[in-house]
Amino acid sequence: MNEQRIKKEIDRRSFLRSTAAVGAGLVLSPSVFGQTAKGKKADDINVALLGVGAQGQVLLDACLKIPGIRFKAVCDIWTTYNQKRVSRLLKKYRQEHNVYVDYREMLDKEKNLDAVIIATPDFWHAEHAIACLKAGLNVYCEKEMSNTLESAKKMVQTAKQTGKLLQIGHQRRSNPRYIYCYEKLINEAKILGRITTINGQWNRAARPDRDMPVKYDIDQQTLAKYGFKSMHQFLNWRWYKGLGGGPIVDLGSHQIDIFSWFLGANPKSVMAGGGTDYYDKKTHEWYDTVQAIYEYETAQGTVRAFYQTITTNSNGGYYETFMGDQGTLKISESVSRSDIYREPSAPDWDKLVETGYLKAPAKKAITHQTGAVVDVRETAPAGPPSYMLPVKMDKPYHQPHLENFFDTIRGKAKLNCPAEIGYETAVAVLKVNEAVEAARRLDFASSEFKA
Ligand SMILES: NC(=O)c1ccc[n+]([C@@H]2O[C@H](COP(=O)([O-])OP(=O)(O)OC[C@H]3O[C@@H](n4cnc5c(N)ncnc54)[C@H](O)[C@@H]3O)[C@@H](O)[C@H]2O)c1
Repeated sequence: MNEQRIKKEIDRRSFLRSTAAVGAGLVLSPSVFGQTAKGKKADDINVALLGVGAQGQVLLDACLKIPGIRFKAVCDIWTTYNQKRVSRLLKKYRQEHNVYVDYREMLDKEKNLDAVIIATPDFWHAEHAIACLKAGLNVYCEKEMSNTLESAKKMVQTAKQTGKLLQIGHQRRSNPRYIYCYEKLINEAKILGRITTINGQWNRAARPDRDMPVKYDIDQQTLAKYGFKSMHQFLNWRWYKGLGGGPIVDLGSHQIDIFSWFLGANPKSVMAGGGTDYYDKKTHEWYDTVQAIYEYETAQGTVRAFYQTITTNSNGGYYETFMGDQGTLKISESVSRSDIYREPSAPDWDKLVETGYLKAPAKKAITHQTGAVVDVRETAPAGPPSYMLPVKMDKPYHQPHLENFFDTIRGKAKLNCPAEIGYETAVAVLKVNEAVEAARRLDFASSEFKA
């Protein structure tokens, strides 16, 4: 493990936490926001939303809980539905704003913006982010930062050239539960000992393609202008090559990002298998099932990481499990899930509980009828009681990452997922699709991770 890199990370995050007083989860009523909107205060930030579909709305809802965020523009090509819906919501919150279909017109007309939040489909990210950075705006751009490394590289370079901020939407990087596990449990208390293995998954139930009543259709000319062949493709862009990257990119990138973060290392190689086994290949060009094995080389030795994403069954949901010779940490963005187990051979963890690193298990150790204590190798529900995290996450999942972005604009923090880190994750994740295609193990050169 690269000690220097870890130390730098910890310093950066400690700095962030000491300045995280702003935006403490206060839910603002429309009337409170109305008062803020009258005049721009020094700490207020004028924001545009570019792409207001499912995720754009999630981000908007989280932003509405953060003081000092003033939405000035909404840009979305779907005028009959998403654009209308979000504009109506902003009016309810007395956020005076203009609406646009084309981002170029928005950048041309809006001269008082500080930042833009981009939640368009992946294949638009590079063009949108680069144009906004060049227009002098700070950018929060959803993952995957781009479908191609060439474009992702240009995004990193443009952020550097313009001196503007580019935060990539891997929101777990700002989640206090994840930060605690990384800083305190893994690197400070070293509860896992030597990490040898990682196991992560995002299993999702089978679901039909997205569809909408005909009255909401976008005309063919507009669809074509913005890169979509049909309404079906517009609504289901994730499954199409050239538009999205499939589930391994859509879902896996969040978690594979955590593998590298917690290990302080990028992968050395990956092998993967997958395919479109369940859905119609004509409309699901990307694989619905992917299983990948990464190999990492850390200062402590080799780590092998298995990752699976399936879209036909939701068993187990989504989580990442880090396994070391002294313990196991299972963590998920889903708040209810974090399991921490001590290996039977590890030194006692009572001291960790006394010093506050861990909360003691809620239940007493379970014993078999024979009197033998159930150990970590047993599976639920007979498994041992789990230690608990002493930190909570009581905000919407994306709020801390957005707060980190806005606080950095205000000069009070540093980005938790700057473009360079987003790029490293894109390199690690996009290679999985290549490995499936090649049907063999692919190596990473360390130079590949530099934008
Ligand atoms: N961080 C997360 O947890 C998370 C979760 C879901 C989605 N995402 C990301 O958010 C992004 C959007 O995903 P989504 O699920 O909201 O998709 P979506 O299809 O629901 O929404 C996309 C929106 O962008 C609009 N749009 C498309 N092309 C446009 C263009 N050229 N100009 C302006 N508007 C355009 C569409 O009309 C639509 O309203 C994707 O990059 C996705 O990977 C991130």
